[in-house]
Amino acid sequence: MIKGAQALPQKDDTNWQLYRRLFVYVKPLKFFFALSVFGNIVYAGASAGMVQALEYVIEVVESPTDESRLLLPALILALFAMRGIGGFLGGYYIAYVGRNVVHTMRVEIFDSYLKLPTAFFDNSSSGHLISRITYNVEQVTSAISDAVTVTVREGLTVIGLLAVMFFANWKLTLIFLCLGPIIGLVIRYVSKRFRKLSKRIMNSVGDVTHVTQEIVTGYKVVRIFGGEAYEQKRFFTSSQYNLVQSLKMEFTKMISTPIIQLLVACSISILIWLALAPGVRGDMTGATFVVIITAASTMAKPIRQLTQVNEKIQRGVAAARDLFTVLDAPPEEDRGTRPLAEVNGELVFDQVSFKYHGSESAVLKDFSLRIAPGETVALVGRSGSGKSTVANLVPRFYEPVSGEIRLDDVALSEYTLRSLRDQIAIVTQHVTLFNDTIANNIAYGSLDGANREELIDVARKANALEFIEAKDQGFDTEVGDNGISLSGGQRQRLAISRALLKDAPLLILDEATSALDNESEKVIQKELDKLMEGRTTLVIAHRLSTIENADKIVVMDEGSIVEQGTHTQLLALEGEYAKLYNIALEDSH
Ligand SMILES: Nc1ncnc2c1ncn2[C@@H]1O[C@H](COP(=O)(O)OP(=O)(O)OP(=O)(O)O)[C@@H](O)[C@H]1O
Ligand SMILES: [Mg+2]
Repeated sequence: MIKGAQALPQKDDTNWQLYRRLFVYVKPLKFFFALSVFGNIVYAGASAGMVQALEYVIEVVESPTDESRLLLPALILALFAMRGIGGFLGGYYIAYVGRNVVHTMRVEIFDSYLKLPTAFFDNSSSGHLISRITYNVEQVTSAISDAVTVTVREGLTVIGLLAVMFFANWKLTLIFLCLGPIIGLVIRYVSKRFRKLSKRIMNSVGDVTHVTQEIVTGYKVVRIFGGEAYEQKRFFTSSQYNLVQSLKMEFTKMISTPIIQLLVACSISILIWLALAPGVRGDMTGATFVVIITAASTMAKPIRQLTQVNEKIQRGVAAARDLFTVLDAPPEEDRGTRPLAEVNGELVFDQVSFKYHGSESAVLKDFSLRIAPGETVALVGRSGSGKSTVANLVPRFYEPVSGEIRLDDVALSEYTLRSLRDQIAIVTQHVTLFNDTIANNIAYGSLDGANREELIDVARKANALEFIEAKDQGFDTEVGDNGISLSGGQRQRLAISRALLKDAPLLILDEATSALDNESEKVIQKELDKLMEGRTTLVIAHRLSTIENADKIVVMDEGSIVEQGTHTQLLALEGEYAKLYNIALEDSH
């Protein structure tokens, strides 16, 4: 089985605390909830009433009168009408409450995904993150709906029937009740098992989603590298695990029902046996006797339903526990209070060390660098030397383990996250596009007020206008999942356009032009050079020709700076940079 996405430790709340917390979601809907409970009470009352009516029926049949000939049919009609109305109110309004709770919880989980720190996503599989919103939330609602519909309706029916019995002959009823604790024990065992199985089923749904998602997004690699058998096996394993656990659940459910029914039947048999004993029977009439036996046997069905509802509730509890763990997870740390409005642009890394969550070795070691306002600094170095990591620390996607990063002499953590990020335009190494139009991809998020002229302007600067206009629908072309219908270079140019449109004082370009041909790169480079003027810029590039003009070039290796200076200074040094440069030079000949 694939490792579950339990990125967070599960909190060990008691079930009671969980129920209380779930109730908070129901609270705003308490009117509808009450309406549903009321409906169920009416339903249960009518059901018990029907049994009680039997006594009357038998008496009337034995000695009919003109009056009772009218009253009896009217009573039966009234009871059925009550049960019908009660059933509707009980069923519809609890669904109303349940669907609303799903909606609220979904929105809350989604919102917390928007706020959770980068490390949370690094450690979770997207399949599990998705199935939490699609599957787990549904489990919680069915639990709430069923808990109310069945527990209240059937529970009250049982109580009503017991009351009917009690009034008919209390001694018999007490004897009948003696079997209750045994039934209780069975239910307890079954609940425990249900809870355990539910958690496994939930995780396996996450696995199924996860594997499916990977082959859907990576289908080309799967086919070329002959991954079909591997993926098939992986999927089969997780789906089979789900199958086995679900079957265990069904088994427990199905076996517990007849056991409980058998126990009820035992009670009824004992009841009849006793009822016919002269001492207990007393002066009970035939009609009363019929009522007692009918009430006892009518109870079998609601009791069965009550035992099954437990499975749903336990599923819901397991799901709720998982959802609350996410909701309780600490969001990205945002304790800064300073708004960042006017940026001068001095960016200082002061002995910054960093390691990724869960990894042993430091990725950045005592990294110190000063970028003066408006200056352009280029990071170069071998793959894996930590360049993108440096870039990730500026918008505070991660926090340094030690050391400090300061913007205009203030630690980054003192600014509010929103205002800090508002001042940063970034082109990431892996371009992200949304399944939307080109226009909406460029003017994404807070940029969506941009007008067409502005879009055309940035697209021209990013050398993207030509290809956009060549598309049938121009800016309104849909780009598909993560821009699948565009070439790598086109995607990069859209990402650059997006960054240009943001027009922020801090600019980070992580391999922003790596997918472009030399010619397009030159065209964009000119525009980017213009753009960098007056902005604090961090540019990362493998192709050294693109960064020759940088104010400072920093050569990194294994998380530390090994050399820094201008292009000419570094060449004169004849060190690492000169080596890299000469290799590049040879390649181009
Ligand atoms: N999210 C992550 N979790 C754990 N380790 C990571 C993560 N991202 C990167 N690393 C590790 O950190 C190191 C530095 O990665 P980084 O992406 O900063 O390198 P880079 O210099 O940008 O490389 P490249 O030139 O290939 O883009 C690598 O060893 C990488 O394996
Ligand atoms: Mg990188």
